[in-house]
Amino acid sequence: MQDEGRRVVMVAAYGDNRVIGADGEIPWRIPEDFAHFKEVTLGHTLLMGRATWDSIGRPLPGRTTVVLTRSESWSPGFEGVHVAHSLPDALALCASLPGDTIVAGGTQVYSAAMPFATHQVLTEVHLSPAGDAVYPEFSLVEWREVRRVARPDLGLDWVWWERVYFAGSDRA
Ligand SMILES: NC(=O)c1ccc[n+]([C@@H]2O[C@H](COP(=O)([O-])OP(=O)(O)OC[C@H]3O[C@@H](n4cnc5c(N)ncnc54)[C@H](OP(=O)(O)O)[C@@H]3O)[C@@H](O)[C@H]2O)c1
Repeated sequence: MQDEGRRVVMVAAYGDNRVIGADGEIPWRIPEDFAHFKEVTLGHTLLMGRATWDSIGRPLPGRTTVVLTRSESWSPGFEGVHVAHSLPDALALCASLPGDTIVAGGTQVYSAAMPFATHQVLTEVHLSPAGDAVYPEFSLVEWREVRRVARPDLGLDWVWWERVYFAGSDRA
């Protein structure tokens, strides 16, 4: 399903309790982490679920957007925003669009795309807010932490992960 050599990068911010969202919104406001998200994603193609699209409400400048929905009639209402109706179609479409494929959430899309991800750029937010959306667990057998920037002043760590092993395949 995934183009060999194509980077599929999960980018997420999650709390110490793995929470990423509450009532359709991100349960903290950290401008420095928004700036980090922008730096990591500029020039690339974002894949997001329809609920995350709704919470953002517009295409993010400098990035190409693909929205995943099961609805055949749904339209984003913005020109240049792509729509896909299955994960395989979405990954194939992203592979034809600029830069890396950035998996931008939320929980449903992170969970579905995790088996195909090659990299993760995660913000560990040192809060445990109430929420209804979480970041999926991933195996330390399959993933290696390659870089960590601790920012106690911001109450977070930025962490880069690389896949070392694809479970269920021999393509380690
Ligand atoms: N902290 C972070 O880094 C971060 C990042 C992103 C999002 N979030 C948070 O995450 C929450 C949203 O997550 P969520 O899991 O509820 O929603 P989501 O993953 O953003 O979107 C779910 C929707 O995507 C579509 N979808 C999902 N899987 C699909 C598939 N295999 N094929 C076709 N369509 C598919 C469906 O849309 P239809 O219903 O239209 O069919 C589904 O209802 C929000 O609170 C948001 O703020 C946090």
